[in-house]
Amino acid sequence: MTTKIIALMGSPLPEGNTGVLLNEAIRGAKDAGCSVARVNVCELNFSGCMEYYYCEDNESCYINDDFSPFLKRFKTMDGLIIATPVMTMGIPGQLKSFMDRFQVYFMAKYKRNQPFISEEQKKWRKTLLLSIGGMDIENDFDGIKLTTHAFCDIIDCPYFGGVFRNNMDEIKDIKSKPGVLETAYNKSFEMCNEIIENKEKYS
Ligand SMILES: Cc1cc2nc3c(=O)[nH]c(=O)nc-3n(C[C@H](O)[C@H](O)[C@H](O)COP(=O)(O)O)c2cc1C
Repeated sequence: MTTKIIALMGSPLPEGNTGVLLNEAIRGAKDAGCSVARVNVCELNFSGCMEYYYCEDNESCYINDDFSPFLKRFKTMDGLIIATPVMTMGIPGQLKSFMDRFQVYFMAKYKRNQPFISEEQKKWRKTLLLSIGGMDIENDFDGIKLTTHAFCDIIDCPYFGGVFRNNMDEIKDIKSKPGVLETAYNKSFEMCNEIIENKEKYS
């Protein structure tokens, strides 16, 4: 049985500090036995939600662009890793726009009471959040966490946990903080093991 993880990359720099952290989490997921597809959101050509409200009555989005296949891919995935820098105290625009397009899932779940994700899938699907911020402030990740929790609820992929590192403007290179990289690997490995175990049990 294949266990599919999508690794969403929210930084425009594929191999920047967020990318390095994400690669560790991907390594953990693969070592646990999952297949992982990394998606560099900033390389996709897609629009934000334009509020056509087509999804109020339909299982798809009126807009057809690079985002479109993800409505199906998010239905069949078993777990999600989100890696994002903090930008203006929240999720960078491109990744946030990507998340907003899942209004299709919101409408199906909350408006029509016909969720895309089955009760069984909900027993194993999970989300890991990785985030880094430049500033040395306490509430740096509040915006990121709020949005991620709402997103996890909309796509029925419950929040498993997070790895956070602020003060990156001073730290500069995440590789100088091996403990953070190790935590990303370990949390991902742990989450993916749980996903595999629960999928075997409930599917
Ligand atoms: C447009 C922009 C906005 C940013 N806003 C914040 C912010 O509000 N809080 C913060 O801690 N860091 C902020 N940063 C700093 C980034 O989070 C930081 O540089 C991070 O390490 C970038 O990771 P990356 O190089 O992997 O993309 C911002 C950076 C940019 C480019």
